[in-house]
Amino acid sequence: MIVALLNQKGGVGKTTLALHLAGEWAANGKRVTLIDADPQGSALDWSQQRAREALPRLFGVVGLARDTLHREAPELARDADHIVIDGPPRVAGLMRSALLAADLVLIPVQPSPFDGWASAEMLSLLGEARIYRPQLAARFVLNRCGARTVIARATAEALADHDPPVLGATIGQRVAFADAAQSGRLVSELDDDSPAARDIAALCAEVGRIAL
Ligand SMILES: Nc1ncnc2c1ncn2[C@@H]1O[C@H](COP(=O)(O)OP(=O)(O)O)[C@@H](O)[C@H]1O
Ligand SMILES: [Mg+2]
Repeated sequence: MIVALLNQKGGVGKTTLALHLAGEWAANGKRVTLIDADPQGSALDWSQQRAREALPRLFGVVGLARDTLHREAPELARDADHIVIDGPPRVAGLMRSALLAADLVLIPVQPSPFDGWASAEMLSLLGEARIYRPQLAARFVLNRCGARTVIARATAEALADHDPPVLGATIGQRVAFADAAQSGRLVSELDDDSPAARDIAALCAEVGRIAL
């Protein structure tokens, strides 16, 4: 399966969730390649940090921030069980290419009532991609849910029938994600039984149940 983490907004958790989804699949014995489609290369930085600290390689990270991504991804997919694409902010050409490559698009959003969840442009790019790829699945993922997750969950339920629907699994606002990012680790490597690690396991399990 090719999963793309996309949202034109920066700082919503694309890189965090891409790395953790890839890591969770790898921990479950899957062959995973992560495509860093963000010119800023934060996923590549993370994997280089790992290499510097001589941590074991969990999955390959390939920098591919080009509009031809959708033509190159199937080749990479041949040698992997799963491909995870860490999407770029803003750049519409790259976003389009990632949408054409993906089987499933996950759109991380922060459940704030003051914030549009995804930009109109993001949703129109998704609509455009579906002209060519009617089977393309998409889901919102609520990230950085705070103590008032009840509100987030109510919002999620209200929006479950909408398109794209919202995943039931949500990711809490947890410092472990920032600690993991800085140290080239995954939250499960910091503490396998932490709330953050359990959030990720639940997310990964739900993504695995999406029929594509
Ligand atoms: N659930 C979370 N809890 C705490 N911090 C988070 C969470 N998700 C992301 N972050 C932090 O927010 C910042 C932006 O996340 P990032 O994944 O880089 O977003 P994007 O790739 O969409 O720009 C990073 O510093 C990251 O560590
Ligand atoms: Mg990023």
